[in-house]
Amino acid sequence: MSSSWSIDAVRAAFPALALQDDGVARAYLDAPAGTQMAGRSIDRMVRLMTTACANDGGVFRTSVEGEATMFEAHRACAALLNAASFEEIVFGLNTTSLLFHVSRILARDWRAGDEIVLSRMDHDANVAPWLAVAEERGVAVRWLDFDTETFRYDYDSLDALIGPRTRLVACNHASNLLGTINDVKRIAEAARAVGAVSVVDGVQSAPHMLTDVQALGCDLFVFSPYKVFGPHAGVLWMRGELMDRLTPLKVRPSPQQAPWMWAPGTPSFEAQAGVLGAIEHIAWLGGLGSEATLREQLAAGWRASQAWEGTLMRRFLAGLKAIPGMRLYGLGGDNELADRVPTFSFTLPGRQASEVVSDLASHNVFAWAGSFYAHEIAQRLGVAENGVVRVGLAHYTSKAEVDRALALLSA
Ligand SMILES: Cc1ncc(COP(=O)(O)O)c(C=O)c1O
Repeated sequence: MSSSWSIDAVRAAFPALALQDDGVARAYLDAPAGTQMAGRSIDRMVRLMTTACANDGGVFRTSVEGEATMFEAHRACAALLNAASFEEIVFGLNTTSLLFHVSRILARDWRAGDEIVLSRMDHDANVAPWLAVAEERGVAVRWLDFDTETFRYDYDSLDALIGPRTRLVACNHASNLLGTINDVKRIAEAARAVGAVSVVDGVQSAPHMLTDVQALGCDLFVFSPYKVFGPHAGVLWMRGELMDRLTPLKVRPSPQQAPWMWAPGTPSFEAQAGVLGAIEHIAWLGGLGSEATLREQLAAGWRASQAWEGTLMRRFLAGLKAIPGMRLYGLGGDNELADRVPTFSFTLPGRQASEVVSDLASHNVFAWAGSFYAHEIAQRLGVAENGVVRVGLAHYTSKAEVDRALALLSA
């Protein structure tokens, strides 16, 4: 894209945005559950499946070409996350299965009486795997809570929660229900100070901002490319020094080198190609030429995306707050927008969340109701039974779509 933002050009880069049903355009406000795929991502997948469909490691053309794409996808992910090396990037099926997988690896040397800290603001993918291994090993679980008024972690409790027996601290970068962006650096620092491993669920921050795992200071960071304009897959970053201390869970004949030895079984090479295309899409958004590094292009892409999402957030919040009796579960102040992603969970007076999204769906506006596996949050907020409506915006959302949703929600 040229250096100035054009929402029409951005939307044209997503084939699905042109679709209509019975003459009514689709409005995809379900981004936190899964974004639409960028055309570049789809094209990369089709190309790989057409011309390079084989396992890696062979001497013939399809294998050689496919392997080259595999390396390129790992390098692109390293640039996306600011990893020290592509060797720290592990592809998997999705975030949940990657976390179940690494939980077994990390827990190998946990002892009865050790402790871990989990958060009440996390998607269950970053809770259940740790609960399971903690139970197996007799490890005590301590909980990092959040404030139900400010929707932020209770950072002051960290000193009391984290101590010499703490082996692991797990938290999220952005909440999939509240939308809060959390001070992960502070949590990772507290974990590091006692030699504990910090695990960050970046699934909801990765679609909206430049990630820098080195600046965050965590040890593991995981995200789901199908929420970042690519295909269904999971990506795990693991700090090289941590890899050096751990033993992989692998079949004996498989490669002994990082990152391959950390991923169980044959990966989806086509998904890796798709992730590469999605990253190329983000780079394209920034409008920088190829003389800039990929990381610089990505930084510019995220700056442009964030500026547009900021405009959309202000517009959506203003309209939402004008609905009498609307209750927002998340940061709502105009001066708080830098601390949230454009994911809005709310209830409307006298209407079940499920009815609201059915009504939206009948007008071809797509949104979710429920509590989205944010199991602990739903309990804490008392919304587990009826759920909330969740409207999620992305950089491809138009102002007209925001207005269309608001008109239906206010009716
Ligand atoms: C914050 C968060 N973490 C984890 C997950 C699970 O990701 P996956 O579907 O890739 O297992 C989700 C999915 O919605 C999520 O929003």
